[in-house]
Amino acid sequence: MGQFPKTRMRRARQSDWTRRLVQENKLSVDDLIWPLFLIDGDGVREPVDSMPGVERLSTDQAVRAAERAASLGIPALALFPNTDPSKRSPGGEEALNSNNLVCRTIAAIKQAVPEIGVVCDVALDPYTSHGHDGLLSEGGEILNDETLEMLTEQALVQVRAGCDVIAPSDMMDGRIGAIRTALENAGHTNTLIMSYAAKYASAFYGPFRDAIGSSGTLKGDKRTYQMDPANTDEALREVQLDLGEGADLVMIKPGMPYLDIVHRVKERFGVPTYAYQVSGEYAMLAGACDRGWLDRERVVLESLTGFKRAGCDGILSYFALEAAELLQRK
Ligand code: PBG
Repeated sequence: MGQFPKTRMRRARQSDWTRRLVQENKLSVDDLIWPLFLIDGDGVREPVDSMPGVERLSTDQAVRAAERAASLGIPALALFPNTDPSKRSPGGEEALNSNNLVCRTIAAIKQAVPEIGVVCDVALDPYTSHGHDGLLSEGGEILNDETLEMLTEQALVQVRAGCDVIAPSDMMDGRIGAIRTALENAGHTNTLIMSYAAKYASAFYGPFRDAIGSSGTLKGDKRTYQMDPANTDEALREVQLDLGEGADLVMIKPGMPYLDIVHRVKERFGVPTYAYQVSGEYAMLAGACDRGWLDRERVVLESLTGFKRAGCDGILSYFALEAAELLQRK
């Protein structure tokens, strides 16, 4: 009140150099994790219809993508297999096959591009015929403790293949502790755990389920294990529990509609905090850009900067490669 004209906020916005001087948050390639979808075969690149510009890659193509990502300085990739339907089962046993698609690809990437970090989901949904992240009882319940045994084994199988970061996305209670104990007992003391700590039962995962081939088969929804989008305090409890059980890094998911959660988590705990700009967020932005309704280069960087401003140390984004290229050109 009464500060104008002594105070003119526009002074600091008048030119590029002043804007650069007062800029508070800077998006960098070091903030990006690039999720890749995998498929069997050789030389295969298969478009994901609901995610224009995103493809399922066979192992050889994923290695090429990893090389490109590493050359741009992207620190890590997150791998998601589209398991052949013949290998899916009610119990999701293919998750424990040490020669499954994701394990073969981890090994190939770590051999060709050892300097890039590899993050792998722990959850059964790419492997179960019912599309759930856990084991389903006859009565239709997702069984918590029985699932933990599978998840622990799945984590060990992936770590033996060379995975650097285990990212449990299943939302079973106690999984971080169970996996951490198993890793320590097996001598894998350096494996990081990035917990999908606050993961909501979201409609924004639709295109992902197309990409990994579980949307057609998913029975019901995931609301008995993923969080209610209306809740915030509960997210803080989830994060606290996972940190106590041995998570190194925590993630909030989805991203853009949940940046308030990111902010609260970062303020409360001050730990490395990540968010996942999920498939539906990608589809929304990419779809509008394809129609000429949004300027793609600008919305990619603006949306990712929003994550940084909210408190993220890093972002999983299908735009990661594109963003890295844009940041390099700037
Ligand atoms: C599976 C998993 C999902 C995503 C990451 N891991 C989907 C789900 O929980 O149904 C979503 C990622 C995205 O939408 O991009 N456990």
